[in-house]
Amino acid sequence: SGPEAARLVASRVLDVPDFPKPGVLFKDLMPLFADGVAFREVIDGIVAYHGRDGFDVVVGIEARGFVVAAAVAYAAGVGVVPVRKAGKLPRPAHSVSYALEYGEATLEVHEDAFTAGHRVLVVDDVLATGGTAEATLDLVERAGGTVTGFTVLLELGFLGARQRLAPRPVHALLTV
Ligand code: PRP
Repeated sequence: SGPEAARLVASRVLDVPDFPKPGVLFKDLMPLFADGVAFREVIDGIVAYHGRDGFDVVVGIEARGFVVAAAVAYAAGVGVVPVRKAGKLPRPAHSVSYALEYGEATLEVHEDAFTAGHRVLVVDDVLATGGTAEATLDLVERAGGTVTGFTVLLELGFLGARQRLAPRPVHALLTV
């Protein structure tokens, strides 16, 4: 259930001060990934929320997003498309650079990653400023995909990412 999934996220996130830069409080969800019962519960919660037929393909954002996205895709019986950091993809790719909470980053997706008309669910572990999600939205659209929404395990609500991504819906198992 929703409340159970939220409780699991809350109880299995570790706050890491000053990572990866001084002044940043990093939200580490690896303890949740490492707990098989909790991991299954949150993945099933995501699929149940959207419905098994609510999307045609899942996008996962490197690196922690891959863990969640692949599991969601498998549980829903759809494919997964990786959005990768610069220089990792072997074939022609779209590229978007954006400002991070801590520095700058570039994300890429293969030009032929999406089938026209397919509904894309973007999945990540944490939504902070929304810069990563916004860059991913840009990438998916450039590659001809249609983003129907974003799902994350943990949303840092005070950073305003939800407003930044509007009108596209953001679903978070837990918002703090
Ligand atoms: C983290 C997290 C999200 C992003 C959220 O990734 O997994 O992708 O930051 O931040 P934002 O909303 O402010 O853009 P990170 O850059 O730590 O990459 P990693 O998963 O490869 O460690």
